[in-house]
Amino acid sequence: MSQNRPVQVIAVSGGKGGVGKSNISVNLSIALANMRRRVVLMDADLGLANIDVLLGLSPKHTLADVLAGKCSLPEILMAGPGGIKIVPAASGVQRMAELSSQEHAGVISAFSDLSDQVDVLVIDTAAGISDTVLSFVRAANETLVVVCDEPSSITDAYALIKLLNKEYDLQRFRVVANMTRTSGEGQLMFNKLNSVCERFLDVALQYVGQIPFDENVRHAVQRQKALLDFAPNCKASLALRELAKKVDNWPLPSAPSGKLEFFVERLLQAAGSEY
Ligand SMILES: Nc1ncnc2c1ncn2[C@@H]1O[C@H](COP(=O)(O)OP(=O)(O)O)[C@@H](O)[C@H]1O
Ligand SMILES: [Mg+2]
Repeated sequence: MSQNRPVQVIAVSGGKGGVGKSNISVNLSIALANMRRRVVLMDADLGLANIDVLLGLSPKHTLADVLAGKCSLPEILMAGPGGIKIVPAASGVQRMAELSSQEHAGVISAFSDLSDQVDVLVIDTAAGISDTVLSFVRAANETLVVVCDEPSSITDAYALIKLLNKEYDLQRFRVVANMTRTSGEGQLMFNKLNSVCERFLDVALQYVGQIPFDENVRHAVQRQKALLDFAPNCKASLALRELAKKVDNWPLPSAPSGKLEFFVERLLQAAGSEY
């Protein structure tokens, strides 16, 4: 793979908790890695250290240590399944808003060193519409909104999209339906969300597909294994690999905005502008 290829930065979001953001983030990352992409998965759910728990990892250091100057970014990266690298969760972004300009520069250069070694950065965001979630989504190149068949899932996804559109002018969103029970269900959910968005907002939503409800997901979580490792041929795994193929075809940001240092600059700006 050529050097200096832009990095695809994808925020996995959805407003509501329990819709499957973390499982999709983990398994999408692994599926992309299996397609020979170099993937870093960032756990940005600062409340619960989700991905560590999902994969049975116990991180010794986090982004907070990088911000404090105690470690370098490569030192905190954990090896995950399928060769993905994981940035463990930390309350780092809350602190990002308070960094001095020298610290800003340090964080940016930490990520810029990583730029040459990464094709895709997947960010697993927390539930809700906190400033932290908004900062990550605003700084990313693509937003993958996860919905499932609960009335509040569509409402919460709408609330997130509305805020990002009205306050920050974001217009492009990708939507994936999770835990579907029938073949047309994902498209129906998308249509519901899309029709309110089209009516009230100036946005372009794109339906990416659906991931079926599959008991294997719960079993994999219980065993602290990634679904793609636990049950590589189950129907949810197949759907996640299909999702990865589509994601891999999304256009890359045009250079230079596709460098990780620019992502981090945007992230710092977004975090700082909330205060
Ligand atoms: N496709 C699926 N089929 C069955 N259960 C699922 C599926 N996706 C997620 N789940 C269940 O939902 C729970 C919450 O998923 P998680 O990824 O942690 O959600 P979030 O990160 O949005 O809070 C998981 O522990 C799992 O049991
Ligand atoms: Mg989660």
